[in-house]
Amino acid sequence: MTQKKDYVILGDCLEILSDLPESSADLVYMDPPFFTQKKQSLVAKNGDSTFSFEDKWFGQSEYISYMKQRLDLCSRVLKETGSLFLHCDKNASHVLRLVCEEIFGRRNFRSEIVWTYKRWSNSAKSLLPNHQTILYFTRSNKFTFNRQLVDYAPTTNIDQILQNRAKDSRNKAVYARNGDGSLVAAGDKQGVPLGDVWEIPFLNPKAKERVGYPTQKPILLLERIIKLASNKGDLVLDPFCGSGTTLVAAKLLGRGYLGIDQSPDAVALSEDRLRNSVKTSSNLLKKGSASYNSSDHRLNAVLSTVGFTPIQRNKGLDALLKNKVDGKYVFVRLQKEQEAVQDGVNLMVKAMESKGDCEGVYIVFEQGNGIFDTKTPENVRLIFSPAVKINEMFC
Ligand SMILES: C[S@@+](CC[C@H](N)C(=O)[O-])C[C@H]1O[C@@H](n2cnc3c(N)ncnc32)[C@H](O)[C@@H]1O
Repeated sequence: MTQKKDYVILGDCLEILSDLPESSADLVYMDPPFFTQKKQSLVAKNGDSTFSFEDKWFGQSEYISYMKQRLDLCSRVLKETGSLFLHCDKNASHVLRLVCEEIFGRRNFRSEIVWTYKRWSNSAKSLLPNHQTILYFTRSNKFTFNRQLVDYAPTTNIDQILQNRAKDSRNKAVYARNGDGSLVAAGDKQGVPLGDVWEIPFLNPKAKERVGYPTQKPILLLERIIKLASNKGDLVLDPFCGSGTTLVAAKLLGRGYLGIDQSPDAVALSEDRLRNSVKTSSNLLKKGSASYNSSDHRLNAVLSTVGFTPIQRNKGLDALLKNKVDGKYVFVRLQKEQEAVQDGVNLMVKAMESKGDCEGVYIVFEQGNGIFDTKTPENVRLIFSPAVKINEMFC
């Protein structure tokens, strides 16, 4: 049989997977029924029809053997360098992990990814479920893995970002120093390696990409998985494709795709979405959650369009701009309430002393506070916040 690419196939994935050639897929993502013991249904976006699929079982052993049969076939279809991501939740993640360990081997377990999101609902006698689990296994220890970097946590000490680390004589991590005792500046650190807790918004009822399929996943989540474990031109397989989210993400990223679903509605929806792919963007991901957690909300107001990393636990500096200017870091300080501008500038200059060749921007919020007498070194500039300008014009 020739390798199928760019298809959506109607049928039970048990039969279709048995028909596929061995070692043909680079990545399998599967989002099967979760053992919720419910019929999952939702009204379609046009309001005229209802989409649904069954998730009711005689018991856990029936579910486990159903999943084991299909996971076995996925392992057969995966290339030696391939990966499997199995989406599940608290109903069966504990047993599915054991099933996967039996099939792929414990040593090929890579991560338990927690997909977390904010959802508001009444949860009377339990904790509000705010996450799902994605089990990540590979066929062997030689697997495709594209390292991804994310922004630093807001609590990261700025010196950890800017300075290199070394071990001292007692094997303790210390900042690396040159022969003359000065700190060794780090090269261009782009961020920290992606962790196993992913905060990606749940599709809200008005999201553009929502088609009304029950348990539809966000394209952004699938994009992250596909980028991590496959390359352009690779084949991505989803044996429970539902509304086709994986296939749309694979297509947008230049991968081949193959989707299977036993529901004719799901296959029709997937084909439709592949013809006309719509993706919802996320401000949370674009700006980073750090920008929402900033300790000083004025930072967001003044710098949101520039892109910045808030600096915590530093007396003189509030933020570091994401882009360097002429190869130099640019630090920002906001004038604090009742702070004389000269005092603020002095604190800023002191904090910048240990940061190498850099620039500073001090943002003035109250003009009366000694602004005209302020002395600043060449690399620190004063600018006025819009509030000062408005006061100047109208008050
Ligand atoms: C959780 S949904 C997938 C949702 C999908 N990830 C999305 O974003 O729209 C599970 C899907 O598995 C399908 N399904 C259930 N059992 C199946 C089987 N044996 N073979 C193929 N598809 C199956 C259901 O019809 C349903 O569409």
